[in-house]
Amino acid sequence: MSEKNSEQPNVPLVELAGVSKYYGNIRALEDVSLTVNAGDITCVLGDNGAGKSTLIKIIAGLHQHDAGSFAVEGEETKLANPRDALNRGIATVYQDLAVVPLMPVWRNFFLGSEPTKGSGPFKRLDVDFMRRTTHAELLRMGIDLRDVDQPIGTLSGGERQCVAIARAVYFGAKVLVLDEPTAALGVKQSGVVLKYVAAARDAGLGVVLITHNPHHAYLVGDHFILLKRGAMFGSHARDEISLDELTRQMAGGSELDDLRHELERAPAPRHLGGPDAA
Ligand SMILES: Nc1ncnc2c1ncn2[C@@H]1O[C@H](COP(=O)(O)OP(=O)(O)OP(=O)(O)O)[C@@H](O)[C@H]1O
Ligand SMILES: [Mg+2]
Repeated sequence: MSEKNSEQPNVPLVELAGVSKYYGNIRALEDVSLTVNAGDITCVLGDNGAGKSTLIKIIAGLHQHDAGSFAVEGEETKLANPRDALNRGIATVYQDLAVVPLMPVWRNFFLGSEPTKGSGPFKRLDVDFMRRTTHAELLRMGIDLRDVDQPIGTLSGGERQCVAIARAVYFGAKVLVLDEPTAALGVKQSGVVLKYVAAARDAGLGVVLITHNPHHAYLVGDHFILLKRGAMFGSHARDEISLDELTRQMAGGSELDDLRHELERAPAPRHLGGPDAA
């Protein structure tokens, strides 16, 4: 639990209850509920088109919900825009990270919030401070970058995700929303990113982790929300569900069992050397 929240220990950082969202006639979300607590990781799992991105766009202030309630630190809210969300401590890391690939790592770390020194005509960017701080903050998250002057485009996808997470922590986010941070990564890099997701949680942030991958979710998650075609079909605390069951539900549960049955029984087609092959 974070110290800031200790005065009101029972108030969630973010709470959605019965939230729906329509795009014209398309029902993108219906009756979805989710709670984000300080020091907790809530995972949102679902297949393509399930409504995951729509859900986080509401939390990030990009879209507004059409029905239900959305409270930030206990206060009913409709966020006007992403800046509004940021001001309330909600930082979102999108899959296509908004970075400037040719700029140094430290420049990207402070992008839009550059500290200055001196005043009047002598005012200039405090480059030294930015270099030192970027290195120190990344080190605090366990990333020992040899050279913070290297262009951020030269970092791996996983390292870039980590820089984005470290940045959100440094700038005082209370809620960190991550849209499929491991989707494009291999096994090892996914592990590194998940470590920093856990580090953000240990720093007291409330984390919302969106993923297709039940294994990744189960490695770090405290709570799991399952979405299908815009509706919630499961909401489980970690001690209520096993990895096997989570995987089964994600894979379509009984639908997958039926498919396995069919595949087992179907004779191999001719061109694959089935019984009719010459
Ligand atoms: N701007 C939009 N206008 C109309 N329909 C939309 C819009 N954005 C999303 N949708 C529809 O809403 C539904 C949910 O989309 P969403 O992007 O939230 O799914 P997702 O779970 O993030 O999928 P993916 O895993 O493919 O990213 C889909 O049917 C999608 O086609
Ligand atoms: Mg999406």
